[in-house]
Parts: sequence; structure tokens; C-alpha cells
Amino acid sequence: MSDNRPIGILDSGLGGLTVAREIFRLMPHEKIIYLGDNARAPYGHRSEDVIRKFGLQCAKHLIDQDIKMLIVACNTITSVALEQIEECVRDLPSIGVVLPGARAAVLRTAEKKIGVIGTKATIRTGAYTKAIQSIGGDIRVFERESPLFVPLVEEGLLDRDVTRSAAQHYLYELLDLGVDCMILGCSHYSLLMEVIQGTVGTRIQLLDSALWTAKEAQDILTALKILSVSKGDGKAESRFLFTDKIDQMERKVSQFFGSQLTSAEYVIIGDM
Ligand code: DGL
Repeated sequence: MSDNRPIGILDSGLGGLTVAREIFRLMPHEKIIYLGDNARAPYGHRSEDVIRKFGLQCAKHLIDQDIKMLIVACNTITSVALEQIEECVRDLPSIGVVLPGARAAVLRTAEKKIGVIGTKATIRTGAYTKAIQSIGGDIRVFERESPLFVPLVEEGLLDRDVTRSAAQHYLYELLDLGVDCMILGCSHYSLLMEVIQGTVGTRIQLLDSALWTAKEAQDILTALKILSVSKGDGKAESRFLFTDKIDQMERKVSQFFGSQLTSAEYVIIGDM
């Protein structure tokens, strides 16, 4: 059995491209439909009601595109609204980014102390602590919001003094608490991997939820026997939908993947 339909990937903006990149690395023949709600991003400082409403509207839009699986590639939407999104997708396989990252961290912490950084909304829900504790073991979790990281990434300030200062501000306290693993609980943060690793040192293992989510998606598609049998270039055949600034998004997506891709498409979601 096989299924050549695309995988739907949902994010508040560009951050979920980090999950898309891992999907293409692991499964180069899979194509995706990416939806980034950049008109209403960032979500991370919004209330839970609003994040839930926006997340559900975006998920419904992707479900209507005849996808074979839905990946919620945004930690903020996953933390606040995964349950409601899963009710709405019904039979469609779906995953968020929190559980795969949590599972990877539980397997790796020797000190049984895990740090988590994310947006204000993600940290407020305690979603990572709940996920880690549901997996088991006597593990202490220290969650810290680090809201400046998203605008720094959006501005392309990936390796600058201002970004290093923000990293020191947010991360030194977690180091003092003795964590040995740190989950990058926001899809944007994968792009700050080098600055974050440089700040915390090599003793701390950084866990990128994007990578573990892509691996879990591969396991699910394999188990359900719905991998694509197409021999085409999944990345080139993929579609990228955005809710604002299409030209700019097209440039950023192409820069991100290092190649010119099919044009970005403008979509209107919900009651925009
Ligand atoms: N992509 C979001 C996440 O993974 C962060 C960006 C936002 O605040 O919208 O949490």
C-alpha cells in the first residue's frame, strides 16, 4: 500500500520550515503542503482562546487540501490546541511537536533534569512538563520562556551579539539548575542552535523537536503503509501557503532551502 498525497504542515509563520526540512531529509520523495499564518504571527504572546481559534482555522484549511497526515509544527499551537485539532482531523493521522521532543529528552537525560525553552504561551501551558511526566521516570523539568528569540530569528540576527546576550539572559539560570538536556521548544529556535550551544557549552545536549517530530512522522507513515512511492523531488513538488506578504515569504522559503521553489500562494483563513 502507498499514498502519494501530501503531508500537511502547519505553523504560525516560518518556524515550521525546520520540521519541513527534516521531513525532506528523511523522506525526499514526500511532498508537503505548508501553511504559515504569518499575517497573524507571532502567536506566542497571544491568549489561549485566540491561539486555539487560529490553530483550528489553519488545521481545517489544510484538512480540506486532501492531505494524508497533519503535522502541527508549531510548539505554541501544539501546546494550546493539539487536543482540539485532533478531534477535528478525526481519522487523519496527526502529530504535534511536543511529545516527540519530550520522548527524545527523557531517553537522554542522565541527571534526570531537563530544561525547556519556548514562547510565553507554550511555557504557560506546562505542556512539556506534562508530556515528560506522562512518559515516566522521576524527572525534574524546568521551563523558561524566551520570547526575544522569535523576533531575533525573524530579523535574521542568527549570530550576533544581541542574540548571544539574549541567550545568556535566558539560559544561564537553567544551567545553574543543573539540567543536562535542553529542549528547543519553539520551531524558530532550531535556527539558533549554534548560539544556544555556544552559550550553554557542549555538556548540555540540545534537543530539536523538529528533528524528532519528522522521525515520528516517518514511523507513522511507515506503520500505516502510506509512504509515497513517487520517485519525484518532494521538495520541488511541495506547496507553500501564507496568509500575508507572499513575495517576501517566497524569498525566505527559497533562502531557507537554498533553492528556488514553486511560488508561495496567498490564502485567506477563517474570518480574516
Ligand atoms: N512557531 C512558534 C512555535 O514553535 C513560534 C512563533 C510564534 O510565536 O508564533 O512556538
